[in-house]
This record gives sequence, structure tokens and C-alpha cells, in this order.
Amino acid sequence: MKNSVKEILSSEDYLSKEILIAGWVKTFRANRFIALNDGSTINNLQCVIDFEKYNDEFLKKISTGSALEIKGRVIESQGSKQSVEVLVNEIIILGESDPDNYPIQPKKHSLEFLRSVSHLRTRTTTFSSVMRIRSSLSFAIHTFFQNNGFYYVNTPIITASDAEGAGEQFKVTTLNFKNSKSGDHSKDFFGKETKLTVSGQLEAESYAMSMGKVYTFGPTFRAENSNTSRHLSEFWMVEPEVAFLDLKGNMNLAEKFLKYIIDYILEKNKDDLDFLEKRLLDEDKLKPKEKRNELSLIEKLNFIVKNNFEKITYDQAFEILKNCKPNKKKKFKYLITEWGADLQSEHERYLVEKHFKSPVIIYNYPAKIKSFYMKLNSDNKTVRAMDILFPGIGEIVGGSQREESYDILLKRMHEFKIEKEELWWYLDLRKFGSAVHSGFGLGFERLVMFVTGMSNIRDVIPFPRTPQNAEF
Ligand code: 4AD
Ligand code: MG
Repeated sequence: MKNSVKEILSSEDYLSKEILIAGWVKTFRANRFIALNDGSTINNLQCVIDFEKYNDEFLKKISTGSALEIKGRVIESQGSKQSVEVLVNEIIILGESDPDNYPIQPKKHSLEFLRSVSHLRTRTTTFSSVMRIRSSLSFAIHTFFQNNGFYYVNTPIITASDAEGAGEQFKVTTLNFKNSKSGDHSKDFFGKETKLTVSGQLEAESYAMSMGKVYTFGPTFRAENSNTSRHLSEFWMVEPEVAFLDLKGNMNLAEKFLKYIIDYILEKNKDDLDFLEKRLLDEDKLKPKEKRNELSLIEKLNFIVKNNFEKITYDQAFEILKNCKPNKKKKFKYLITEWGADLQSEHERYLVEKHFKSPVIIYNYPAKIKSFYMKLNSDNKTVRAMDILFPGIGEIVGGSQREESYDILLKRMHEFKIEKEELWWYLDLRKFGSAVHSGFGLGFERLVMFVTGMSNIRDVIPFPRTPQNAEF
């Protein structure tokens, strides 16, 4: 069994011991010092070789990106940068890396360039830090739910229904579309029209209405043609669903959940966060003063954990936005003049970043701009929906109390032109033991963006899928 760089650097037990490690060369200086990284931690292990033991041809093969196996002894470091280093006894070159062609040279690369080499970009400190945090976040999500009595359910990826009713689905078919009559799916693989799911919510509701507290965590797909820094065509969503829980309880659950997972990262991924924070501070130095971040990355995360989220109704948000100018010079691109207008990201960001300067939960939205399944309030115009807005991100969570009345749900489906036959089973849940229930969806990549401070969603998922792009 090989040792990992992480264990060697984090425990004194290895001092003076023989170790066996393998990893990739970050840098090789003075034919003597190899900075080796095996991905287990942000830190490299300095391995010192006696170059007189090796010929030039061999030494040339040790270059940035090459894979090595090293046997040696851990000693206290002679240099000041690290506490320990490895005195190399034996070195095997597992895989060379042509220095003239290796794209990840030890210098600063642009994120755009690194996207074009997504298969190698986790060799950089920035991307490996982001992906280690992504991994910890998903563990924290499971831990939170498992510790709070939730069951994990796997909802289908291929589905016949459009949960959000937005018509933004990818079709799944084995028909050769050149030869088939369009629209006739009776001869298709599933004998009906099927698509990739946009959400596991409807199926999760069926499980909540028997197992009480459940959550899904899986990939979802949306064919929105919005090429923004916050949208992916394939993204991961966390969707808890809870029986006998109303909107207020749902908002409290979401707040407690977000605080738990962010706090978990503050504790468990300190090295990665320190690096990402410094990266952002360096970036800020190049910006004009007014564009710099008010809080550092870690301050911002602590702020979320320690402060209550502001909770306001759509009506209150409307009153704030109706008469306001975001700043002296500029108006909103889309003015909010009429009650019922959907909020654009400029409005959401104004509320969070300028007006309240804290995360905001907006609830009780106009029914017209939200999905068919949300519980209609007694005013007959608003639904028990809630969106959580975060600084720099905008909407990170969308959720609601669900309509539990059979008759009202059927009426809402008519209004949204959703066939009864398509969702007969979903209606059934309102016939047999229906009850108040609620849930929400957290966009996992938007969470990773927030926690890592990365500004483009393409940089927080290993291989992003966006319009006109499905490389790798
Ligand atoms: O607000 P949405 O559409 O809500 C639902 O899908 C509900 N079924 C959730 C539920 O109640 N169970 O999406 C939930 C979240 C958004 O708040 C956003 O964070 C993220 O999913 N999201 C996206 N993330 C990346 N790329 C996209 N194209 C996204 N669309 C939504
Ligand atoms: Mg939403």
C-alpha cells in the first residue's frame, strides 16, 4: 500500500520512517528538489534526490506533469517552506510528460484556457481545491440528512413528465427521426414520449408520503438556451421532501441545512479555502476599489453561518423594488412596475447585495410565475413558494409547500395545460392519505460556486455541459 502525501504531511508518526508514494511532478528545481502532488491534499511533498546518482537522460524525464513512484525516508526539512521532506532512495518514472507539449505549465493559466483542457485541469491547485471541496460538500449533504432522519431515494433520470412544466427537456428516443413520423412515440423504446428529468421532486413526494422524510441527490437536465455563468444543461440537485411540514418549516429546514454544510467546509477544508481566498484577494487587487469584494471568502462563509436569513414576502420585495434605483446613475434593465412580474437576477442581487446585505428568502410568490404543484394561498393569487437568494449567486434554492388538495391541484394542472393522464399517479397521492408536505431544490453547482468563490459555474463541475458544448 502506498502512503499519501496528506497523511505524511499531517502526522508526525512518519518522521524518520521509510515511505512509498506516487504522484505527479509539480515542479523540479536545480535537478534536486521535486515537488510531488498526489491529489490527496493541496500541499506538495518535497522530495530531494541526489542528482549525482542519476545520469542526465534520466533526470530529463523528471518534468512537470510526469508520474513518479518514490521510495525514501521522511526527515525534518532543511528548508523553511515545509516541515518535512523526503530523502529519495529509489525513484521510478511511471509516465513521462513531454515538457514542450504539456498544457499545465507551472505558471498562471486563465480559467478559459483551462476549460479547454478539462481532462487535465485538476492538476492545478485551483481546480483540485474546488473539486476537493465539491466532494466534501456532497458528503456534508448526506451527513446532514442522514443525521436528521432522512432517507436517500434515487429517482428516475428518464421520465415521461415535465416536473417544472417549463418545457425545457431533452428528449430520449431510439427512433431514427429521419424515418419516423414526428410525434408518434408508440413505436419508440418506451412506447411513449420520454425525456431526461428536470427534477426528482414529484417522485420524491411519493416517497415522502410514505417514508416521511426523504431526499434525492442526482443529476438533472435542462435544455434552457441560457448561456450564463450560472446555468448548466446538466447539473446536480439536492431535493429534500418532508411530509407534515409547512412552508415556514421548509424555510427553517433549508436555512439550517445550508448553515450546516457551509460550516462543515469551514472546518474540514481549511487549506483549500485559504488558497481560494488568497486567489480571490489577488484577483481583487487588480480591480478598481468599488468593484472589490467587501468580505473575503472565509468572512463571507462565516457571515452565512452566523446570521439569520432575511425572510420577506414577494409583496414586500415588490414594494422595495418598485420605486428604487439600484444606484444614482443606473436604472434596472427590467423595471418592476406591475405586481406579478417575475424577479430578474439584477433585482435578486440588489435585494441581497445592496438592500439587505444578507441572504434573503422571498416567499408567497404570484401563482402565475411559479409551478403548478405549489400550494395556493387563500388569496387565490399567491402560492407558498420560497426562493433563497445568496450574494453573488442569486437564486440558490427554490422550494414550496405542495398543493395537497386533489380538486385544486387538478384545476391548476388544467390552467398549466398538463394532462391528467400524464400525472395520474401524482394526483393519486392527493386521493389516498393526502397531507401538508413541502420540499426544496438546492442547485449543487451554485452552492459549490458560492463556497469556493468561483465566478463561473463551468469551473465547479468536472465536465460542464452547456449549449454547443459537450466535449470530454
Ligand atoms: O427552482 P428550481 O427549478 O426548482 C425545482 O426544480 C424544484 N423541483 C425543487 C423542489 O422544490 N424540489 O431549481 C432548483 C435549483 C435552483 O434554485 C438553482 O439553484 C438550481 O436548481 N438550478 C440550476 N443550476 C444550474 N443550472 C441550471 N440550469 C439550473 N436551473 C436550476
Ligand atoms: Mg427556481
